Amino acid sequence: MNLTTNYLGLQLKHPLMPGASPLTNRLASIRELEDAGAAAIVLASLFEEQVRITQTERLKIENRLAETDASNDAFFEGSDAYAFGPDEYLEHIYRAKVAVDIPIIASLNARTPTTWVDFARSVQQAGADAIELNLYFLPTDPDLSAGAIEGRMLEIITAVRENSSLPLAVKLSPFFSSLPNFVERLQHAGVQGVVLFNRFYQPDINVRFREVAPKLELSDSSELLLRLRWLAILSGRVPLDLAVTGGVHSPNDVIKSILAGAHGVQVVSALLRYGPQHMRSLVNGLKSYLEEHHFRSLDALRGQLNLANSPNPEAYERANYVHSLLFWDR
Ligand SMILES: Cc1cc2nc3c(=O)[nH]c(=O)nc-3n(C[C@H](O)[C@H](O)[C@H](O)COP(=O)(O)O)c2cc1C
Repeated sequence: MNLTTNYLGLQLKHPLMPGASPLTNRLASIRELEDAGAAAIVLASLFEEQVRITQTERLKIENRLAETDASNDAFFEGSDAYAFGPDEYLEHIYRAKVAVDIPIIASLNARTPTTWVDFARSVQQAGADAIELNLYFLPTDPDLSAGAIEGRMLEIITAVRENSSLPLAVKLSPFFSSLPNFVERLQHAGVQGVVLFNRFYQPDINVRFREVAPKLELSDSSELLLRLRWLAILSGRVPLDLAVTGGVHSPNDVIKSILAGAHGVQVVSALLRYGPQHMRSLVNGLKSYLEEHHFRSLDALRGQLNLANSPNPEAYERANYVHSLLFWDR
């Protein structure tokens, strides 16, 4: 049975990989995930804020170096900021590459272009096989237009693209006026894949104390439906690799994602809930399905139910919206 998939130019033994999360912060866990069958590893993100803090810290130290005697112990005050900053992230990439044989995808969480110019190059030098760029952004300023936000995102991508030749995937939110149009522009900017979608952790309101309470809840399979629709719409229309993240918990969720057009399938909540060994049951479930239904390869299954191939394309489109509302009780 051929489960191989090509994702971001990487030949993977199957499409399943842990998504960005603390699951991949320790080398022991990365090895455990490889043993459980993961085809690649996406590291937790390095956030722009972390890089900036360290840059400021570095500048302070350089200034002090100019002003003081570097042999003085006081000179090293503040350098602890490096402990969990970019330098350690690069070292983690390097060590992960040595520790396992599967591809390592670095994840960068970016808000502005300038920070990434040097860092994208360093990520490549550290040995990463690809970069996943998370463009998590929540607009709250009414003066900021959709066009300006998209323009900023494209600037970030260009900065990374110009400084690294690694394959590049962009992790997006579902909130675009025209997602297919933006994805096409990503392709023109040199992106190889998109990861659908970022989850927005919704703060709740505590009525007793009348305060806003941040909340991180793990996903369930119902979150996959939004991803399936957009995978199906983009699949076959944009020449980019598509990865799903959000709501993949069971082998059926994996199979649905492939039918909708996914090249890569990322899992986080299910691994946090059931442990790294859950990876193996997802891979085995996918394999059994292909065998039972006499598919010889994953490629034969991929996109069978995308918008272009579906015998019922209106299920993804507006007609289904009207139908669902009119006949909600049937
Ligand atoms: C504890 C935790 C930490 C996460 N950290 C990151 C991160 O550093 N970068 C990122 O892009 N996504 C991060 N995510 C989001 C996941 O990569 C994933 O997109 C999301 O959880 C949806 O997938 P799931 O339904 O399989 O959990 C995190 C998720 C969780 C639960």
